[in-house]
Amino acid sequence: MSEFDYQWKNIPCKPTDASVIQRVTKLPLAWFKNKTILDAGAGSGRFSKIFSELNANVVACDISFEGIHKCQTSNRIVMDIMHPALNTTFDMIWSYGVVHHIQQYEICLAQLSQLVKPGGYLTLMVYRRPITAKMFALYLCYGLLRQITKYWSSEAKLKLCGKLSIKFADVHGWFDAINPCFNKLFTLKECTNILHKNGLTPITYGGPKMHIEVMFKK
Ligand SMILES: C[S@@+](CC[C@H](N)C(=O)[O-])C[C@H]1O[C@@H](n2cnc3c(N)ncnc32)[C@H](O)[C@@H]1O
Repeated sequence: MSEFDYQWKNIPCKPTDASVIQRVTKLPLAWFKNKTILDAGAGSGRFSKIFSELNANVVACDISFEGIHKCQTSNRIVMDIMHPALNTTFDMIWSYGVVHHIQQYEICLAQLSQLVKPGGYLTLMVYRRPITAKMFALYLCYGLLRQITKYWSSEAKLKLCGKLSIKFADVHGWFDAINPCFNKLFTLKECTNILHKNGLTPITYGGPKMHIEVMFKK
């Protein structure tokens, strides 16, 4: 079982709300009504659920069977976004916390760009390359923890994440920091250059310190 399968099977979905979608897209929530959205790397579907509640036509996809199994949306598919088997385009591709786990991220972003309708949006959250001493220190800590826990079982890692989450961040955050085999750190310029090559322009940008949240228009 992959790390993400283990995570979705064993850790309850991290709750969220429409304010995150509003923060990232800066669109009024009424915009989403009847729009087609692909939640690319939906996990257990916390954002897909909100898009459905906003009356959008959402497709949740993820490579993790356990994640898709937990999704409450009616349109959900197990799919690798490196090889999207879809013959349609969307008003918005929403990919939150996914692309930094994909080694061939440039190809992945090119594939996702192809799925955006002309005039549509691609929204991303990716991990930011450290820009402050505090961020460097935190990433050093993550690196050290990864080394220490490299040969631990998923159960032991989950126990550790549970203990760490009592004081700092949450279980999903810690699990993400020490488990997935690939975690790329981005700069905004890097994201922008890749998407620019695929015909997309950044229109909103923000996010908490450790994350880049950016929306592109085709
Ligand atoms: C940190 S989780 C984020 C899940 C969800 N977007 C959220 O915010 O709750 C990253 C997700 O990306 C998925 N993922 C990683 N590589 C993928 C790929 N090539 N195709 C589809 N999903 C992928 C993982 O299975 C995992 O569910």
